[in-house]
Order: sequence, then structure tokens, then C-alpha cells
Amino acid sequence: MLIEISNLTKKYIMGEMEVPALIDINLQIKKNEYVAIMGPSGSGKSTLMNILGCLDTPTTGHYFFNGTDVSTLDDDSLSAMRNKEIGFIFQNFNLLPRLSSLQNVELPLIYSGVPAHERKERALSALEKVGLSSRVGHKPTELSGGQKQRVAIARALVTSPGILLADEPTGALDSKTGEDIMRLFHDLHQEGNTIILITHEQEIANYADRNIYIKDGSIHSDQINGNKTQVKQSSSLINIQ
Ligand SMILES: Nc1ncnc2c1ncn2[C@@H]1O[C@H](COP(=O)(O)OP(=O)(O)O)[C@@H](O)[C@H]1O
Ligand SMILES: [Mg+2]
Repeated sequence: MLIEISNLTKKYIMGEMEVPALIDINLQIKKNEYVAIMGPSGSGKSTLMNILGCLDTPTTGHYFFNGTDVSTLDDDSLSAMRNKEIGFIFQNFNLLPRLSSLQNVELPLIYSGVPAHERKERALSALEKVGLSSRVGHKPTELSGGQKQRVAIARALVTSPGILLADEPTGALDSKTGEDIMRLFHDLHQEGNTIILITHEQEIANYADRNIYIKDGSIHSDQINGNKTQVKQSSSLINIQ
């Protein structure tokens, strides 16, 4: 089992108040699953993503990643694991504005000490995979929203992580560009990647094989998606906008 969460609770402390953001979550995700986590605003989706991505720790309960109890890791091992095993994709891309596409994609490899020539080679190949070979020298301001998200996806892929974690990846894009990005996720899943996608839109969740619905911090339902969107065209072959 790639991800195993048992009896997990997360409370935020605000002054004298405790805000229960996640309540008794139990969840298992296998390698190469494609899962969408859904729920209304404030239901706990981002809190769960932060815990899955080792950016935050549970208040109680356990999170095992590839058999390792994440709560037993010290800060250095945790950030090493985050850098190696988790590819993050955010709604607002989170690219560094002064860096080119290539430099943005190279960043995680710099943190993990990969030598310069290998870094460049791997970053170029990740950019090729997302269909952006012709934009490697562009800065984020010189790219469209969809292209920026492709750079962010290349940056997430470049370390060959165990999971791709995407929080509302199409939230800042128009629906046509959002579809292109979802086709790219489809291809990446076909190639063997494990994808966990967070969204409040059923239309986006329909691209995934499994839909988990969170309500008020608890898992309300967890089902195979019987309404899966059929994707035919390979995104790397289409002309990107
Ligand atoms: N840093 C924080 N401090 C206090 N409360 C928080 C914090 N982050 C989130 N919350 C609260 O936890 C609940 C879940 O938030 P969140 O995980 O961001 O939901 P979602 O991503 O589904 O919109 C909400 O009630 C929110 O107000
Ligand atoms: Mg959120």
C-alpha cells in the first residue's frame, strides 16, 4: 500500500478555540491509483493534502507512506522525503517569476544535489513530456495560464516522485485549458504515475477512477467513479495554447 492513513485527526488551535479540520480519517491508496478528493469549501481538502504531502502533521492518528510512519521522521528526513516522493501542483502554479521554465523545473533537483548537466537533461525531458519544449527559456509572465501549469507539472515530475498531489489544478484556468491539463494528467496516469487530485468540481473529478467526498472533515463517501470521462487524444501530441 502506497498510502495508509488510520484514525487521523487534525485540529487547528486558534487562541482558546480548537477547529477540528479532519475527524477520524481512514484511507488507503495504492500505487498507480488516480483519485479525486472532493468536497465543499472548508471541508478539509487542503488540510488533507498538506498532511498527505508531509507539509503538515496530524494531531492524532497515523500516516504511513510506503510503509514508513511519517510521524516518526525528523524534519530533515521529512523534507528529504517530500522532495523525493511528492510532486506538488497548485491552483496558482507557484512558479518563481524571475526564473525561466527550465530553471523552475530544475529547482527540486538543485535541492536534492543533482549535478548541473544531469539537472538540465532531466528538466528538459520533463518539459518535453508536458509539451513545452519550445518554451524552455520563457519566464512565467511570458506564458499562458495553461503553459504555466504545464511548467508546474514538469517541476512536480522531474524528481520521479511516488505521488503527484494537485490542489485545484484547473481552478485558475478557463474550461478549455482545464481540459488540456486533465488530458495531461490522464496521460501521466497511463504512464504509471499515482495521482491525487483535489477539486470541488464534479466535472474535474470525473477524470479520476475513484472519487472520495469529504464533508465537515470526515469521509462521506469513497467510490469507484462510474461516470469516468473518456480521454482519447494524447495531450503531448496536441498543439498547446
Ligand atoms: N491554519 C489554519 N488555522 C485555523 N483553521 C484553519 C487553518 N487552515 C484551515 N483551517 C480551517 O480548517 C477547515 C478546513 O480547511 P481547508 O482544509 O482549507 O478546507 P478546503 O481546502 O476544503 O476548503 C476550515 O474550517 C478552515 O477554516
Ligand atoms: Mg482548499
